[in-house]
Amino acid sequence: MTPQSIASFSLTGKVALVTGGASGIGTGIAAVLAEAGATVVIADIEEPKAAKQVAALTEAGHSAGAVHIDLADEASIVRGCAEVVSRYGTPWVLVNNAGLQDRQLLLEGTAAEWDRMNKVNGRGPFLMTREIARAMVATKGQGGRIVNIATAALVGSIVKGLSAYVGSKGALFALSRASALELVDYGITVNTVLPGGVATPGAIAAKGPPVEGPARRRPPLGVCEPRDIGAAVLFFATPAARYITNQVLAVDGGFSVT
Ligand SMILES: NC(=O)c1ccc[n+]([C@@H]2O[C@H](COP(=O)([O-])OP(=O)(O)OC[C@H]3O[C@@H](n4cnc5c(N)ncnc54)[C@H](O)[C@@H]3O)[C@@H](O)[C@H]2O)c1
Repeated sequence: MTPQSIASFSLTGKVALVTGGASGIGTGIAAVLAEAGATVVIADIEEPKAAKQVAALTEAGHSAGAVHIDLADEASIVRGCAEVVSRYGTPWVLVNNAGLQDRQLLLEGTAAEWDRMNKVNGRGPFLMTREIARAMVATKGQGGRIVNIATAALVGSIVKGLSAYVGSKGALFALSRASALELVDYGITVNTVLPGGVATPGAIAAKGPPVEGPARRRPPLGVCEPRDIGAAVLFFATPAARYITNQVLAVDGGFSVT
């Protein structure tokens, strides 16, 4: 395939593994990648919700499946990733999207909350990246794409109560850089998307103190939809983006210009 031909923007024949694809931003990412031709595999703890998304994608004429993975549990990740590879083949793209986003004020902060948040948002993507990158490397000459979903709170769009959350997303951001270096020789790129606020089930139900801080400002480009994040992920996921790694893209509706 000629690099940057229009065909290189397609994911036809490729497998895309999306963690947290059963809800919110993950559903938007899954839909956009499926529309680009990928077989989308949703990895989530919420099996009925994942099955509902798979049914919606299938009804729309796409190829999709789901695998139960609990990102807080290493054995579940190892087993689930092996299941993905044996049932669907080695993923071309892994999107580390699933995450917890509860708030807790720093002065009331607990080690337990820090650990809970980091287990899913930091350690989980580390283990997912290890497992899927091993499979990509073993599939010689394949290469691959890893896209990590951090948060625009790392670059300004923040509210109070996010110390454990941004700590965990900072770890994910740093993981992107470290894994980009170690995987570049295998043709595997690692890039990061920073979403601004999206009114998802998880964001709406997030526990914690009232939402106060700079991120309460309305972004000039208006409301963000899950598919807006999916569009940025799709770009990094395509064969066309072969020359781009260790990069960061904020999808925050122009928040930075306000
Ligand atoms: N919504 C926002 O405003 C916003 C902003 C910036 C970044 N983000 C990030 O985007 C990602 C998606 O957020 P969302 O708002 O769509 O959340 P959401 O809660 O609506 O969806 C998250 C999904 O992750 C799954 N999940 C949670 N814990 C899991 C675990 N242990 N193992 C496997 N799956 C698990 C949930 O079941 C759910 O399907 C998160 O990483 C979040 O931090 C969200």
